[in-house]
Amino acid sequence: MQKKVALTGIKPTGELHLGNYIGAIKPAIELSKAPQFSSIYFIADYHALTALKNGPKMKEYIYKSAATWLALGLDPEQVIFYKQSDIPEIFELSWILSCHTSKGLLNRAHAYKSIRDKNIEAGIDPDTDINMGLYTYPILMTADILLFHSNVIPVGKDQIQHVEIARDIAQSFNSLYGETFTIPEYQIADQSSVLIGVDGRKMSKSYNNTLPIFSDSKTLKNIIFKIKTNSLPPEAPKDPDDSILFSLYKEFSDESQVHKMRERFYKGIAWGDVKKELLATIEDYFRDSRNKYFEYLNDTAYLDSILKTGAQKAREIASKSLKDIKNKIGTV
Ligand code: ADP
Ligand code: TRP
Repeated sequence: MQKKVALTGIKPTGELHLGNYIGAIKPAIELSKAPQFSSIYFIADYHALTALKNGPKMKEYIYKSAATWLALGLDPEQVIFYKQSDIPEIFELSWILSCHTSKGLLNRAHAYKSIRDKNIEAGIDPDTDINMGLYTYPILMTADILLFHSNVIPVGKDQIQHVEIARDIAQSFNSLYGETFTIPEYQIADQSSVLIGVDGRKMSKSYNNTLPIFSDSKTLKNIIFKIKTNSLPPEAPKDPDDSILFSLYKEFSDESQVHKMRERFYKGIAWGDVKKELLATIEDYFRDSRNKYFEYLNDTAYLDSILKTGAQKAREIASKSLKDIKNKIGTV
C-alpha cells in the first residue's frame, strides 16, 4: 500500500498552548499512528523568524517545542521530525517557487493583509512593520509542503488559506512543467476546533491569552482564576455555551463528564467551582506528559540528536525531490 504523507509544522514563537494542542498537535499525533500515513512534522523556526528576533529565545522555544511534541506522544521512530532550518532544500525550493508565484496572490494572504489593513486604518505607511519574510511566508510554507509530496496537512482553521495557496502554486507549476507536485489537502480537527483563549478571543500567542500546555500548577491556577465570568450568583442557572470555562472544560473531558457539567450549569454552579474543576481536569489530562516534558527539556543533547536524525531522513527525500524539480526547470 502506498502510504499518504501527512505533514505539518508549528512555529516556535512562544510556549505552545492548549489551542496548538487541540488544533494541531493532537490531530497530528493521532494521524501519525494511522497505518495508512507516513508522517513528517517539523519545527518551523524560519517561519518564526518573521516575528521573533531574539537568538536565546528562539533557541529556548525550539527546545520547548521539540520537548512538547515528544512528551505528547510523537514517536521519532515513526515520524520524521526535524527543524525546518536544517533542510536547505526547502529554501532553494522556496526561491524556485517565488519565481512562479504572482505578487497578487501574496497581496491577498491574510497574515500580511491584516497588518497592512491595520496600518492603513491607522493612517500610517501601509508597509510599517512588514518584513519580506512575512510577505513571502506562504511561499516558504508551500515549499515545506510540496518538497515532501504531502497529501494531508493537519492544521487549525487559520491555516486553510495557506494550504490553498500551496495548491494553487502546485497546480500552476504542474501545468507548466508536467506532473511534479502532489496537490495537498488540509485537514481540520473538527468544525468547532478553534479553542477560545482566556479573554474570549481565539487562543493565540499573539494575543497573550493562552494557557501554556506545560505551565506549572501555580501559573495555570493563576491564569484560570483570572478568567472573567459574569456576575450571576452561584445558584443562578448558567449557559454553558456562553462560558469560556465550559468551552475549555469540554475539550479535556469525556462525554459523560461534559454532560454532567452541562447539567450543573443549568442547575446553578459557582464560578469558583467550575474554575477548580477546570484546573484539576487540565492537570490530570497532562499529568504524565508533563513529567516527560521536563525530562526531555533537561536533556537538550537528546533533543539535538532526535532533530539531527530527523533532518537526515528528511533530506534524503528532499534532495531527490529537488533534483527532479531542478531537472524540470532545466538547471540540471
Ligand atoms: P499562535 O496563534 O498561537 O501563534 P500558531 O499560528 O503558531 O499559533 O499555530 C500553530 C498551529 O496551531 C496551527 O495549525 C494553528 O491553526 C493551530 N492553532 C493555533 N491556535 C489555535 C486555537 N486557538 N485553536 C485551534 N488551533 C489553533
Ligand atoms: N504557518 C503555520 C502556522 O503558523 C506553520 C507552518 C509552516 C506549517 N510551514 C507549514 C503548517 C507547513 C503546515 C504545513 O501555524
